[in-house]
Amino acid sequence: MCPLFALAITFAFLAFVSPSLAATADQWRSRSIYQVIVDRYALPQGADPTKCDTADRTWCGGTWNTLRENLDYIQDAGFTAVWISPVSQNYQGSTTPYGDPYHGYWIADATQLNDRFGTSDDLKALSDELHRRGMYLMVDVVVNDVMATSTHPDLSTYMFKNSSQYHPYCVIDWNNNTSIERCWLGDTLVPLPDINTEDPTVVSGFGDWIESLVKDYNIDGLRIDAAKHVNMDFWPVFCARAGVFCIGEVFGSDPVEAASFQGPNGLDSVLHYPMYDSLVEAFTIPGPLNTTAVSDMMAQSKALFKDTGLLGNFLENQDVPRWHNISVDPQSLYNAMVFNFMSDGIPIVYYGQEQYSNGNADPYNRAPLWPSGYANTTAYQLVTTLNKFRNFLTQNSTWLYSSANVLATTEYGIAIMKGDVISIITNIGSPSFVRRPESITTSSILTCVHWVVGSNGTVEVDYTLGGQPVVLIPSSELPGSGFCGFSSSSTGSSKYVSSAGSAHAHSNRFTYSLAIGLIGLIGVSFW
Ligand SMILES: *[C@@H]1O[C@H](CO)[C@@H](O)[C@H](O)[C@H]1NC(C)=O
Ligand SMILES: *[C@@H]1O[C@H](CO)[C@@H](O)[C@H](O)[C@H]1NC(C)=O
Ligand SMILES: *[C@@H]1O[C@H](CO)[C@@H](O)[C@H](O)[C@H]1NC(C)=O
Ligand SMILES: *[C@@H]1O[C@H](CO)[C@@H](O)[C@H](O)[C@H]1NC(C)=O
Ligand SMILES: *[C@@H]1O[C@H](CO)[C@@H](O)[C@H](O)[C@H]1NC(C)=O
Ligand SMILES: *[C@@H]1O[C@H](CO)[C@@H](O)[C@H](O)[C@H]1NC(C)=O
Ligand SMILES: *[C@@H]1O[C@H](CO)[C@@H](O)[C@H](O)[C@H]1NC(C)=O
Ligand SMILES: *[C@@H]1O[C@H](CO)[C@@H](O)[C@H](O)[C@H]1NC(C)=O
Repeated sequence: MCPLFALAITFAFLAFVSPSLAATADQWRSRSIYQVIVDRYALPQGADPTKCDTADRTWCGGTWNTLRENLDYIQDAGFTAVWISPVSQNYQGSTTPYGDPYHGYWIADATQLNDRFGTSDDLKALSDELHRRGMYLMVDVVVNDVMATSTHPDLSTYMFKNSSQYHPYCVIDWNNNTSIERCWLGDTLVPLPDINTEDPTVVSGFGDWIESLVKDYNIDGLRIDAAKHVNMDFWPVFCARAGVFCIGEVFGSDPVEAASFQGPNGLDSVLHYPMYDSLVEAFTIPGPLNTTAVSDMMAQSKALFKDTGLLGNFLENQDVPRWHNISVDPQSLYNAMVFNFMSDGIPIVYYGQEQYSNGNADPYNRAPLWPSGYANTTAYQLVTTLNKFRNFLTQNSTWLYSSANVLATTEYGIAIMKGDVISIITNIGSPSFVRRPESITTSSILTCVHWVVGSNGTVEVDYTLGGQPVVLIPSSELPGSGFCGFSSSSTGSSKYVSSAGSAHAHSNRFTYSLAIGLIGLIGVSFW
């Protein structure tokens, strides 16, 4: 078929067919996700921006419309998907000891939309707008439980109204998997009645519900809350009815447990909590600075997970402290971020991470974004560069499907290689946070430096400006990337400005170019 004709067909298709992208796991592999708590992302025009106190645990005014009206900030940073907090109706009673359900996780009747965040048309408009921009919509869903204010709630207010559709109240024994699945999350002030997901009426009821939710709002993927609290065999049926990518929350540091949830008998993927824990151990400053935790977890992940390329890589979310709370040196955030974008898996950035949001636990890790002024911070620019670079790399299926290997681990850092791209990340920190006084010397080398790999296979990284991450790619692969003076070949990323500097295409595959990052402090020789 002649290419022009094919193009015409594509246009006709885009113009007249509803813009559904309903994506499979494999289609999500190349994406990068921005996670949003709808209530906290953007205010309506004219609202008072000073009125949101995170400690109050109540609604601050964000909606599906205010998110839709402010998508440029997310798309300009290069994200290709947005994960939104749950859309189902929540508890509507008086304020509880833990505040109001501004976060969306306190499900009442799952079949109704949460009118705090807008109407059915508003949610459709958000979905359409994301698809118009070529972005995916991921919706957070809660099927493990509903919310109550006593251990004997009035079941008539929920989607499932028969007591046989719930497990009887019990307190979770964390050493007993059956108990983890059947007993109730929450506590006696705000119990979360556990739905009996073994019951066939629940299985078919939830199946019907998710099938129509996905269809009605053209949802491309699901993030599944509390997935480890549901019997495993529920998931293949539920996700088949949904027909889209399912990534589950399996909270915990055990990779054996997390990996048991990925595959045909479970979910497409899980959020990589075990790697999150390892990154905390390796990169937070102050912290144990144990880089072996990361190289070790990479090896375990490769051995245990069925597909590391689908795992959700994150540094923050609504349940863990903001990185900037546990590690005040921004270099530590930058290095850990580079790992999440340049290793296996789908990078996820939680709203506000790019603004150095610094609250610790719930509710302080859910601060409103607007006081930041959506500023173009160094972290925002790094995220933008990482997305732009990864969006370029993912067009190359060899890179996308390759598995990252550890080249070297030292006390101060780790060098990994995925495809031909080498990332050298360190926990040395910024000069002002540096613990090793002999390490500060000056020299400033900016972007697009060439690195020649020695005949003995070494690359020497001299840190003179602080422990900043370094990402290297063979110079020969740069054409079309939009980096180092090369123009971008994909029209989709043409709006991104090329980095400064110049580079020549080298046929020698051992000539690497610095695509991202500055070069910092003390001599660390990797491999
Ligand atoms: C509740 O479920 C049980 C067990 O499936 C069934 O016998 C009973 O008729 C149901 N009650 C109502 C009111 O539907
Ligand atoms: C595990 O928990 C289940 C559900 O609460 C309970 O029935 C069972 O007795 C527990 N098993 C042990 C060994 O405690
Ligand atoms: C619970 O199940 C997971 C696998 O899903 C297993 O790794 C873990 O050891 C089990 N825990 C207990 C306490 O049995
Ligand atoms: C560092 O992490 C590795 C792998 O998880 C672990 O075996 C080792 O004990 C840790 N070292 C320290 C000093 O905590
Ligand atoms: C961590 O968060 C708590 C609560 O939000 C806050 O009081 C504290 O100052 C934060 N620490 C840092 C280092 O940002
Ligand atoms: C942020 O600042 C950088 C560096 O000045 C610039 O290249 C980029 O275009 C800015 N991004 C936005 C969205 O303004
Ligand atoms: C695709 O990636 C592989 C491995 O990273 C590399 O060898 C190859 O040259 C790349 N292809 C292009 C066209 O850049
Ligand atoms: C490897 O070669 C580089 C120069 O190409 C040299 O600086 C370095 O000392 C050598 N390393 C080893 C372990 O021989």
